[in-house]
Amino acid sequence: MQESGKAGVEFDFKGKTVWVMGGSGVLGGALSRGFAEAGARVLVCGHSHMGRAAELAHELVAAGCRAETRQVDVTSRESLLRLSDEMDREGVGIDILINAAGGAVPAATTGADRSFFDLEDQPLGQAMDLNFMGTLYACQAFGRQMAAQGRGCIINIASIGAMRPLTRSVAYSAGKAAVINFTQWLAVHLSQTYAADLRVNALVPGFFLTHQNRFLLTDEQTGELTERGQRIIAHTPMRRFGQPEDLVGPALWLASDAARFVQGAAIVVDGGVAAFGGI
Ligand SMILES: NC(=O)c1ccc[n+]([C@@H]2O[C@H](COP(=O)([O-])OP(=O)(O)OC[C@H]3O[C@@H](n4cnc5c(N)ncnc54)[C@H](O)[C@@H]3O)[C@@H](O)[C@H]2O)c1
Repeated sequence: MQESGKAGVEFDFKGKTVWVMGGSGVLGGALSRGFAEAGARVLVCGHSHMGRAAELAHELVAAGCRAETRQVDVTSRESLLRLSDEMDREGVGIDILINAAGGAVPAATTGADRSFFDLEDQPLGQAMDLNFMGTLYACQAFGRQMAAQGRGCIINIASIGAMRPLTRSVAYSAGKAAVINFTQWLAVHLSQTYAADLRVNALVPGFFLTHQNRFLLTDEQTGELTERGQRIIAHTPMRRFGQPEDLVGPALWLASDAARFVQGAAIVVDGGVAAFGGI
């Protein structure tokens, strides 16, 4: 089993600049660290948890890496364009864009006290905005420069919920399905319209144990798996949750020349969940 905390892969991204939306989050943070340790200059972008982003950047810089933080709201075109203009003025380019901002919106999920028929517009729209439109807006705001320079690589973070809709999470699953569809569309569009080598792919994480879902999957007191946690492990042939570092190798590979002919793909990183028929 992969040791926690180490991605276990070597790629060289010296001279590349990587912008990570959702870099202040758990998975985006691991990706930021992975690219910075592989030599890239990393913009760790987030909306919340900017203290965590600052700590990460500080730690990376102390270790001799290049990292800095920026606050941005991916659901706002203005906010994204402000960041784009600011970076332009500072002469900071973009080689790789990672769209890892996202997450479930509790009021857009069904439950004992909230039927599907009662889900309201605002939370449904918020979940679609964060998980789908935020990715599309970021590709518009930062992809323009990639199209102009004729090179670049975009990695969108979807979810296994896109392929196997998660019980209760209706808008989250639909939003992530839209991310995969959009990834394919944009890959074709950029290749055909601007430069053949402009690549757009998606990573499709399965179940990772993170701050957001730890309380749902493990008992806070005992650390034992909850019933939902047990069901997930029972449906994961590799019999464990993903560790954030498990995403790093696939992301470095996708962004590297080793994946130069990979276009419009959705790479599942899930310990076998999507492959398992349940029997
Ligand atoms: N954790 C999992 O098991 C899992 C599984 C599959 C997919 N994913 C996806 O991976 C991505 C990262 O998940 P995570 O577990 O690290 O979540 P997280 O909550 O730790 O991180 C989410 C990040 O998104 C940022 N964000 C939220 N709203 C934003 C906005 N409006 N503008 C800009 N940034 C915003 C937050 O600041 C944070 O940095 C998400 O898209 C999530 O849906 C997670």
